[in-house]
Amino acid sequence: MTARERASFRPLGKAEPVATRLVHGGRGPEPAGPHGVNPPVARLSTVLFDTTAQLRQARVRREQERVLSYGARGNPTAHALEDLVTELEGGYRTRLFATGLAATAQVLLAYLRPGDHVLITSAVYAPVRRLAEEFLKPYGIEYDYYAADGSDVQALLRGNTRLVYAEVPGSSLYDLLDLPALAALCRSRNALLAVDNTWVPATCIARWPWAPTSASRR
Ligand SMILES: Cc1ncc(COP(=O)(O)O)c(C=O)c1O
Repeated sequence: MTARERASFRPLGKAEPVATRLVHGGRGPEPAGPHGVNPPVARLSTVLFDTTAQLRQARVRREQERVLSYGARGNPTAHALEDLVTELEGGYRTRLFATGLAATAQVLLAYLRPGDHVLITSAVYAPVRRLAEEFLKPYGIEYDYYAADGSDVQALLRGNTRLVYAEVPGSSLYDLLDLPALAALCRSRNALLAVDNTWVPATCIARWPWAPTSASRR
C-alpha cells in the first residue's frame, strides 16, 4: 500500500475498549438530523457522476484511494464494514471479498510473480493447496509447505521467497505459531507475511502488534 493510499484513510483513534469500538467503529461522520443507527444498505453497480470529468477523475483516483466508482469495487455500506474491521484490528485498510478463498487468491496473485517462491503453512485450509497446485505452479510460482508450528521456516526461506502465508490458528487442528517471531523473520529476509485469521474473531486479538502485510478472514 502506498503512502498516498494510507493517507486517504482517516487515522485510527486512540485505543478505546473493544466494546466502544464495536459501537462507534466504521460510522464515519454522523449525518445531520435524525438518522438510523446503522448505515443504510447500499446496493449498486453502476455509479452516476455529474460530469464525465468527475468519472475520469474517479477512475484515476481509485487506483490509489478508496473512492466510489463501481459497485464491484465497494459501496458505502461495504466501506463502513471495512472501516469497522480496520478499526477493530488496528490495521491500515480492509478489503471485503465475497468468499475467503477469493481473498486468499487475491493476496497470492497480487503479490506473487513468475519466478517467486512462497512458503505456505502445512496447516492451510485445504483448497489453498489446490490453488497453489493449479494456479501458482502453472504461472511459474514455486511453493513449499512449512511445519504448522513454523519451526522450519528459516531453513526453507530462499532468496526468491516473496511471501510467507500463515494461518493462525491453523485449519483442522488449530495449530498456533509465534507470529511476532515469524513477522520479524520475514522482515529481516524482505519477505511479505500474509495471515489467514479466519478462526480468530477480531475481538480476540488485542491489535495486530506485529503488523503482517495482510490478514484475511472469512
Ligand atoms: C481457514 C479458512 N480460510 C479460508 C476459508 C475459505 O472461506 P470461504 O468458504 O468463504 O471461501 C475457510 C473456509 O472454511 C477457512 O476455514
